[in-house]
Amino acid sequence: MDRTHRPRRLRTDGIRPLVSETSLSASDLIAPVFVDATTDERVPIGSMPGHSRVPVSGVVERVEEVLETGVQAVMLFGIPEEKDEVGSRAYAEDGVVQRAMRAVSAETDAYVVGDVCLCEYTSHGHCGIVEDHAAEDPTLTVKNDETLDLLARTAVSQADAGADMVAPSSMTDGMVGAIREALDEAGHDAVPIMSYAAKYESSFYGPFRDAADGAPAFGDRRHYQMDPANAREAMREVELDVEEGADVLMVKPALPYLDVVRDIREAYDHPVAAYNVSGEYAMLHAAAEKGWLDLDAAAHESLLSIKRAGADLILTYFAESVAATLSADSQT
Ligand code: PBG
Repeated sequence: MDRTHRPRRLRTDGIRPLVSETSLSASDLIAPVFVDATTDERVPIGSMPGHSRVPVSGVVERVEEVLETGVQAVMLFGIPEEKDEVGSRAYAEDGVVQRAMRAVSAETDAYVVGDVCLCEYTSHGHCGIVEDHAAEDPTLTVKNDETLDLLARTAVSQADAGADMVAPSSMTDGMVGAIREALDEAGHDAVPIMSYAAKYESSFYGPFRDAADGAPAFGDRRHYQMDPANAREAMREVELDVEEGADVLMVKPALPYLDVVRDIREAYDHPVAAYNVSGEYAMLHAAAEKGWLDLDAAAHESLLSIKRAGADLILTYFAESVAATLSADSQT
């Protein structure tokens, strides 16, 4: 048979691991954790099977569960006891996330990341201070520059409470620079910033907005989050964040935006993160529940693909379940 090229020769069980180009490890993953000031017991999140909101008193136990799977990093989101126009519980010294961070950094070895945004803390659900009459007029939106100071305060309050890294997600122009300056002034020059650099206005955030109670009360986020049609614009967003001092560059969501992950990987030497968001998690669960796909296999393939596209680290609600399967594999 005249067949010089047989790529199948490299697919036998013996050689597959040797020629594998991409690998996934628990140390690549960050697990999001929701801390809720309004409850004193775990409340399951309906749209995100396997995830719950936990009370501050239960956050250490929750983080210990994550660590047991081999995942070493968590990202904390807060649901405050009350919300107001300016999101003041986002930057309160005794805010829900700040209390949780103090406990987790004192009692566990987890690497603690803080999501820095106001949308879970504002009564209107937008990611900053809104213009007067924004509720009636859809052309009005978040006041960009007035929001910067509140984001900077939020980041500093999280670092004060023990956050190892902060991750601003509000898509406010200038947020990375404002936060870098405030952290440095407060003596937190060693705290890195993982910027949600290219965050799209995506329908895949639906389940999260249920989980964190952060859906906008009016309008949407298209005036500040990116248009899904744009990839070159993502490079401009990233460039600005790099100039302002971002340490890690994130793309969000992950799977529908792997081209953007790849573009950033090729153009920058910074670590690239991708956020495999709530909708990406929920849709696999929904299909698996119907018996239409194998959940663990589909989750593993998703995360592997995100790494193959160029991500170094992945924020994902699959962190624990995938890490558990990875360590089971390595024992065989
Ligand atoms: C806060 C924030 C959101 C997510 C992470 N940080 C919500 C949003 O922008 O609406 C989404 C995470 C997910 O869907 O898993 N701004």
